[in-house]
Amino acid sequence: MPPPPGAEGPWTEIEEASMPTTRPKSLTAPALRGRKVRDGHDPLVMVTAYDAPGARMVAEAGVDLILVGDSLAMVVLGYDDTLQVTTDDIAHHTAAVSRGLASLDPEVGRPFVVGDLPWMSYHTSTDDAVRNAATLIRAGAQSVKLEGGRKRLPVIEAIVDAEIPVMGHLGLTPQSMHAMGGFRVQGKEHGAALELVADAKALQAAGCFAIVLEGVPDRVAQMVTASVDVPTIGIGAGGDCDGQVLVFHDVLGIEDRVAPKFVRRYAEVRSVAVEALEAFAADVRGGTFPNDDESYHLDLDVAETLHLYA
Ligand code: KIV
Repeated sequence: MPPPPGAEGPWTEIEEASMPTTRPKSLTAPALRGRKVRDGHDPLVMVTAYDAPGARMVAEAGVDLILVGDSLAMVVLGYDDTLQVTTDDIAHHTAAVSRGLASLDPEVGRPFVVGDLPWMSYHTSTDDAVRNAATLIRAGAQSVKLEGGRKRLPVIEAIVDAEIPVMGHLGLTPQSMHAMGGFRVQGKEHGAALELVADAKALQAAGCFAIVLEGVPDRVAQMVTASVDVPTIGIGAGGDCDGQVLVFHDVLGIEDRVAPKFVRRYAEVRSVAVEALEAFAADVRGGTFPNDDESYHLDLDVAETLHLYA
C-alpha cells in the first residue's frame, strides 16, 4: 500500500527510498500550522479553484493551497451571493479539483486542498457539521474551512476531534451578509478589533491550523496576526498577514462584475476569451472553418465506391 501524502515516520523512509522522481513535497496541515512570516517563512499563497483544469493551472503556478470556496456560487454558478451553494455542490467541485491534481505530472507539487463548508452545513448541529466536513474530505479535500468566531468553537472542536483539519475565517464573513447588513469591512471600532483578536486566539486554541482574515483594516489584521501562532491568510486585510488569498476568476480577469478594491487582476482572460469566440463565430459564418487540414478524409478508393469525386 503506498503511503498517504505527507505521511511521516517509517512511511517517509519507504516513500523516499522507492520514489523514482524528485517530486516536490506538498504541504500538510501540521506543516502549515507553523508557517508564520515572523519566523522567517515565505508568505503562503492560496487561490480558489473549482474544476480540474483550474486546479492544474493553480498547481503548475506553484501555489501552496487551493480553496474550493463557496465563491463557487457567484463566479461559477451565477448566483448573487454565497448562500445558494450546498455541501453537495462543494463536494462535486472538490472532486473535480482532486481529479485534476491527480492527473498532474508527478514533478508538479500538489497544493493543499481546503473545502469550504457552505452556509447551513455547520449551523444546525455538530453532528451535521462533522458529517458535512467528512463529505468534503471524501470528495478529496485535505481540510475544511468555516466562517465565524467563538460561537463556532463547539463545531470546530468536533470536526478537529474527527481528525479533520479546520481553517477558520474571521472578519467579513460573507455567509453572515444579512446579519452584518451587507458586505462591510469589519473590526473598524476599538471593541470590534479586540473581539477579532479574541476570536482568533479562541480559534487557534480550538485547533484551527490557519485563519482567513477577510475585509478588515490592515492594522487590525497585523494585530490579529501578531497575536496567534497559526498563519493568517488575508483577503482585503492588508499586507501583514502570513499569506494572501484571491479568487481565481478575479486574478485572471474572468469575473467582470463588481471588483472590490483588494482585487489585483493579473490578466484579462475574459476579453481574450470573448475575442477568440468572436473569431470562431466569424470563421464559421464566413465558411473558413473548418479547413481541409481540420477535416478527416476518405481514402480515394473508398470515395470512388461511393461515387464521390473531387
Ligand atoms: O469562497 C471563497 O472564495 C472564500 C475566500 C474569499 C476566502 O471564502
